[in-house]
Amino acid sequence: MAAGFYFFLLVLFAFGASLQANGQLCPNFYESTCPQALSIVHKGVVAAIKNETRIGASLLRLHFHDCFVNGCDGSLLLDDTSTFVGEKTAVPNNISVRGFNVVDQIKAKLEKACPGVVSCADLLAIAARDSVVHLGGPSWKVRLGRRDSTTASRALANTSIPPPTSNLSALISSFSAQGLSLKDLVALSGSHTIGLARCTSFRGHVYNDTNIDSSFAQSLRRKCPRSGNDNVLANLDRQTPFCFDKLYYDNLLKKKGLLHSDQQLFKGGSADPFVKKYANNTSAFFKDFAGAMVKMGNIKPLTGRAGQIRINCRKVNK
Ligand code: HEM
Ligand SMILES: *[C@@H]1O[C@H](CO)[C@@H](O)[C@H](O)[C@H]1NC(C)=O
Ligand SMILES: *[C@@H]1O[C@H](CO)[C@@H](O)[C@H](O)[C@H]1NC(C)=O
Ligand SMILES: *[C@@H]1O[C@H](CO)[C@@H](O)[C@H](O)[C@H]1NC(C)=O
Ligand SMILES: *[C@@H]1O[C@H](CO)[C@@H](O)[C@H](O)[C@H]1NC(C)=O
Ligand SMILES: *[C@@H]1O[C@H](CO)[C@@H](O)[C@H](O)[C@H]1NC(C)=O
Ligand SMILES: *[C@@H]1O[C@H](CO)[C@@H](O)[C@H](O)[C@H]1NC(C)=O
Ligand SMILES: *[C@@H]1O[C@H](CO)[C@@H](O)[C@H](O)[C@H]1NC(C)=O
Repeated sequence: MAAGFYFFLLVLFAFGASLQANGQLCPNFYESTCPQALSIVHKGVVAAIKNETRIGASLLRLHFHDCFVNGCDGSLLLDDTSTFVGEKTAVPNNISVRGFNVVDQIKAKLEKACPGVVSCADLLAIAARDSVVHLGGPSWKVRLGRRDSTTASRALANTSIPPPTSNLSALISSFSAQGLSLKDLVALSGSHTIGLARCTSFRGHVYNDTNIDSSFAQSLRRKCPRSGNDNVLANLDRQTPFCFDKLYYDNLLKKKGLLHSDQQLFKGGSADPFVKKYANNTSAFFKDFAGAMVKMGNIKPLTGRAGQIRINCRKVNK
């Protein structure tokens, strides 16, 4: 009897400790301090997508590029100044990441409603979810309570965000360094069912690779010359670039992935079974994607008294 009771206590304690170890984020973090937070972000995202459909993809990507560099701490949003080097000009971000004005607009509304309460890092996590939902994808409960960094790292942004030239093993190790599995890698790459990429990001794949459908490669070569026109855009999902659906995986089965890194997920390697599964089953994709987004959102958050709640996402509070 007594042994059973102590076992019960032990299990309870282990459960508590595992919650603690999870970064202490929770979905109802702003319930009493800013009950309007979720609806303010949601309205801002819907308005921004109504103005420009692509912005949903851009907002989703901001959360990824934030989380992979020292955790989800809003570091990506800090502007360069004469005395501070931020992440915006790191190789994966320069003239590529976008959506900062939308973030500013939403943050201004949050500051008006609840000054100094909602972090920029949490704003990005909520905006990513709301963008996915608004474009037809799955929903999930966003865990909250992240605080904002007072620093950024251009060097780490250069090396921690994988380039589109990555092979499968480089992708696997990049994600595994963030605590993300092969399944998470394949599910999160499904983000490329929305949005656009520049010629410079897919040129090598359409000119130099062999695991690409030849007519698909040819049509992209017409858009993207061997040199010049670096910023010409192409859809990451050739079929429905503004619908969050599973067609990204169908493209991979047909060797019609836009980026070298995309097609690495279906090339007779260890990622193939996941691609096949998601191409076959939208609900399996949505379920794994939502789970992986929560996992990505949990990467090294600043909590408690660490960091700060930035007033302006572009600069550290005075
Ligand atoms: C697996 C490794 C990944 C690589 C190598 C990669 C690479 C890229 C590249 C090169 C672009 C085009 C950028 C440009 O040409 O300006 C892009 C766009 C995009 N990426 Fe990824 N990405 C990866 C994973 C992810 C993940 C995990 C997410 C989200 C969770 C994501 C979301 C997006 C979105 C939504 C866009 C389109 C953005 C827009 O239209 O503004 N990517 N990615
Ligand atoms: C609407 O989108 C355009 C790009 O298509 C952008 O230049 C403009 O700033 C956006 N307007 C608002 C209010 O966000
Ligand atoms: C970022 O892009 C701008 C515009 O093309 C370019 O002038 C600048 O050199 C780039 N910065 C880095 C660090 O690559
Ligand atoms: C990041 O990469 C760019 C382009 O290669 C380079 O100019 C810059 O020095 C790098 N920054 C850091 C801090 O490593
Ligand atoms: C994958 O890329 C890494 C880094 O660029 C390289 O060291 C490695 O040899 C490549 N692996 C394969 C199997 O091509
Ligand atoms: C394609 O391959 C050629 C020959 O190996 C190389 O010179 C070129 O840099 C490659 N292009 C890209 C965009 O990777
Ligand atoms: C999924 O696979 C099953 C059995 O393998 C097949 O009958 C079904 O048509 C597939 N569904 C889709 C949407 O591809
Ligand atoms: C599709 O995936 C869902 C979620 O994992 C699962 O419940 C369902 O059985 C799968 N359907 C098929 C036909 O495999």
